[in-house]
Amino acid sequence: MKAVVVGTGYVGLVQGACLAHLGHNVVCVDIDTEKIANLREGDIPFYEKDLPELVKAGVASGRLKFTTNLQEAVEGEKPAAVFVCVQTPRRDDGQCDLTYIETVLRSIGTTLSGTSLIVIKSSVPPGTKKDLYEWLGNQNLELAVNPEFLREGTSVRDFLEPDRIIFGVESAWASDVLTELHKDIDAPVLVMSVESAQLAKYASNNLLALRLSFINEIANIADALGADVTHVSKAIGHDPRFGKAFLRAGAGFGGSCFPKDVLALHNVALSSGYHSKLIAPIMAVNDEQPYRFVKKIEDRFGGVSGKRFGVWGLAFNKGTDDARESPAVKVAKILSARGALLSVFDPKATENARKELGMTVSYANTMHEVLDEAEALLVLTEWPEFADADWSHVKANLKQPVVFDGKNFLPHDEIRAQGFEVHGMGLQDLWKPKEERPL
Ligand code: UGA
Repeated sequence: MKAVVVGTGYVGLVQGACLAHLGHNVVCVDIDTEKIANLREGDIPFYEKDLPELVKAGVASGRLKFTTNLQEAVEGEKPAAVFVCVQTPRRDDGQCDLTYIETVLRSIGTTLSGTSLIVIKSSVPPGTKKDLYEWLGNQNLELAVNPEFLREGTSVRDFLEPDRIIFGVESAWASDVLTELHKDIDAPVLVMSVESAQLAKYASNNLLALRLSFINEIANIADALGADVTHVSKAIGHDPRFGKAFLRAGAGFGGSCFPKDVLALHNVALSSGYHSKLIAPIMAVNDEQPYRFVKKIEDRFGGVSGKRFGVWGLAFNKGTDDARESPAVKVAKILSARGALLSVFDPKATENARKELGMTVSYANTMHEVLDEAEALLVLTEWPEFADADWSHVKANLKQPVVFDGKNFLPHDEIRAQGFEVHGMGLQDLWKPKEERPL
């Protein structure tokens, strides 16, 4: 089948490359001429595991094409569906900015002739269907919603091996078209209304964010009580009603999705006449976590002004060069503002973080370079190479063997056994049952 994908960011490029991988003929459209020229050569403007290989293979097979011209994209074989994958950023007032969606839908509405299915992949708040149709302004075009559940860093796998696929449709025809396009993916398919599919996307991201803020709250309570949140997470995770994922506490969650989608759901509920009591505190907890993390460093060193620290990690998550809303960047900004001297390293996200941190920190070329003259090491992104570091080398190069783990992911017992003092969110010092009865 032929598919057109509009927008070649994280979502659109994965969509296009994966559909081509599944054997469909795909034309990806973007207004950025330089980006399209590079993509034709197989050059991808961001880091995402497995994507370069898939794009190169798609281009070589002739099944994946790129253009800046929507008219050209829809010419020849009629596309079975046009997927809209443009960004829906957060506006200053917390609402979702739909201007990119509007522009694309208007252009699709005037370019396409005959009956076609227009599929919204971008996160667009529920309650917008009327606007979406108005922007399309073409009675031959039918809308559907097929929300994406891709995590940056594992997007390709998430697309090809999803937990579920959701089709928000208005007709059996739309459902059939989408089913045919996804027929080689082995996953449960849930068919529902457009509004339910839109809400399902927001509910999923909000529940994950709620879970993270909840476990971060438990970490803060564990700190106050002298308990260990990693043990609590394990205890919770063994209950199949909860599951193990998304129970790692830390200095907060980041990325372009959770913070935006939490605010958007709160606002969409409000504008529909419902004041949610549960959604807003998710961000309130998250906004405080980087400050709580910094306070631990200040408490340990009696302030940070004029003190040097090494930082591993700037990306909001492992496996990506994306530093948007990254807790690592937030921590670095707070520490710098309080006079700390930071030397930072990230395997992929340095250039993106530099846009926010500028000259306030110094950028190291290797992970070991940040250790020189540092009072302590702060680890702020869960890159596996940080957990697997040569800790004896780290110890030999730091002024003191002190580590602050902002993602609670390092092998704490192993590092402690090497003589490190380990701090994190809600961590208890090495605990084991006493040999003797205490009383
Ligand atoms: C998230 C969702 O997981 C995807 O399903 C969704 O499609 C995507 O948003 C989107 O709406 O486009 P993403 O933000 O890319 O994906 O990455 P996640 O793996 O969800 O991580 C988000 C943040 O939570 C990161 O900062 C990560 O470090 C943090 N996290 C994750 C924790 O602090 N603890 C955990 O246990 C798990």
